[in-house]
Amino acid sequence: MGITATGSYAPPRVLTNFDLEKMVDTSDEWIRTRTGIVERHIADPDVATSDLALLSARAALDAADLQPTDIDLIVLATVTPDMFFPCTASVLQHALGATSATAFDLLVGCTGFVYGLAVAREMVATGAYRRALVTGSETLSKITDWEDRSTCVLFGDAAGSAVVAAVEEGHGILSYSLGNDGSNAEVLRVPAGGSRLPTSQETVANRQHYLQMVGQDVFKFAVRAMVDSSEVAVKRAGLTMNDIDLVIPHQANSRIIEAAAKRFGIPLERFVCNVDRYGNTSSASIPLALDEAVRGGRVKSGDHVMFSSFGAGLAWGTMVMRW
Ligand code: ACO
Repeated sequence: MGITATGSYAPPRVLTNFDLEKMVDTSDEWIRTRTGIVERHIADPDVATSDLALLSARAALDAADLQPTDIDLIVLATVTPDMFFPCTASVLQHALGATSATAFDLLVGCTGFVYGLAVAREMVATGAYRRALVTGSETLSKITDWEDRSTCVLFGDAAGSAVVAAVEEGHGILSYSLGNDGSNAEVLRVPAGGSRLPTSQETVANRQHYLQMVGQDVFKFAVRAMVDSSEVAVKRAGLTMNDIDLVIPHQANSRIIEAAAKRFGIPLERFVCNVDRYGNTSSASIPLALDEAVRGGRVKSGDHVMFSSFGAGLAWGTMVMRW
């Protein structure tokens, strides 16, 4: 089982660091040196997560030369669903015309796409499903507190999709390592709007429907989680770090990617990095970077490709495949 095609989409409106300088007390220099981000894409007010998902899904199906009705499973990872329910995967299923597909959402923060691939791989491997569409799609701009400079400079909107199906013997998903540690969950969350703290005038006034993050805690966790889960996944695949041709890490911060590269002992040239142009797009970040790498000719048949991610939960996930 493996990825047979990819697609992605980012909304056209670009918000630069210089635009942000006019909105909060920040500077292009601070954002670039602390995060590597230069600009991010922001969806228009009337555009929802399923709209971005749809365009990335169509691109993936085109690349696979498949019709929507050829897909029998849709797994959509997001922390910014169109609404509480129905699930955004259902909205996508209808918009796409994937009338034969079972569809559901996964909510595992920025790690959602890797979890989605693992779930799809297993469901296809049993023979119960033949072709899955795994999508990570986010409109983080809708849950961003645009008055909080410590978070609003970090995030962007985008979607990425992959088709998971049977591939040639010796290729495809070799291993994965997924994990969670809920003991420190409060360092990255949207506190209100759920059953713990339902929506009220007070939660709105206190800005508790926006993403909140203790950045330094997430930073420390991120490097450790990526390194530890990558070591496990690489070993499970029967490989060493030297065998990895291309690493596609979660695109949160270029300093995290550089620190991970150092710990892996893999040169930075073997990492795909587009955080400068998109910021952190949560579950969309890996499929977006993957699609760019595939279309740019950076992924070749036989390459060992590794996805590594971390995020809210706190959760982490690494997957190794032979392209
Ligand atoms: N502009 C200017 N100054 C700022 C800004 C800003 N946008 N934001 C914070 N500062 C200030 C702070 O107030 C602080 O000032 P002080 O020293 O006077 O108190 C100073 O800059 C340093 O702040 P730190 O938080 O210590 O900065 P740090 O170097 O840790 O960088 C950052 C912050 C970029 C958020 C970093 O911690 C990080 O990248 N963390 C990981 C974030 C991440 O990966 N999130 C994943 C989310 S995954 C998901 O599921 C959505």
